Amino acid sequence: MSSSNLVIANWKMNKTWEEATEFVDFFLDKSLDKPTIIAAPSLYLQGLHLRNKNPQISFAAQNLYFEEKGAFTGEISIPMLKSLSIGYVLIGHSERRQIFQESDELIAKKIAACLSHQIIPVFCFGEPLEIREKGQEIDYVLAQIKSGLALTQLNSFKQLVFAYEPIWAIGTGRTASKEQAQEMHLNIFNALTAEYPKLNPEEITILYGGSCNLDNAASLFSQPNINGGLIGGASLIAEQFLGLNQI
Ligand code: 13P
Repeated sequence: MSSSNLVIANWKMNKTWEEATEFVDFFLDKSLDKPTIIAAPSLYLQGLHLRNKNPQISFAAQNLYFEEKGAFTGEISIPMLKSLSIGYVLIGHSERRQIFQESDELIAKKIAACLSHQIIPVFCFGEPLEIREKGQEIDYVLAQIKSGLALTQLNSFKQLVFAYEPIWAIGTGRTASKEQAQEMHLNIFNALTAEYPKLNPEEITILYGGSCNLDNAASLFSQPNINGGLIGGASLIAEQFLGLNQI
């Protein structure tokens, strides 16, 4: 995949329904350069999906549970998302890992369930600051990827999207430099092509996330192995997110 082909907004736990619809309405008449996905609170997914008329925009859930149905109070399932035509879901975001104690094992189950139901997981991973300070970030991230894919038989890299989000860069205003991000993305790309030699490497999509904004996105997205962005804070304002889409 060539550089910068996808941008994903991660709204996290933000926006009222009114604010969410204003955002989607802003894009009704905008022509977008790239496929654009909005990871909205699941409560809004159906309403936003029905309201949206921009063919470049689709929606993602921010989480799901791997079981198909049953006594799992508070959770949502893949069949529920599919019944609303939602085709993407964030899995393994560091906020889920850190605040909600999601383990590598749980993440692996979620990814395997997504792939077996043809829903595309945006598989997130990234190192905390102390790991980077020790110079162990590449081994750490490659191990996260390996365990996340441990229960999955990949047939094509189109089945998922990878998202490198260094924890020290999320919501801190401190972004990875383009060299730091490119180095990690290249290592991920090389590890994936070595692990899956039969799959088409051109179909690998690796997004960067972590304080990505209008000031730094152009230089990050110009790197050969950075295929777009997973954007938190800067995705909440429609004009800014449009600017990020046009980079
Ligand atoms: P920020 O862009 O706010 O740093 O968040 C990044 C992120 O966590 C996207 O998933």
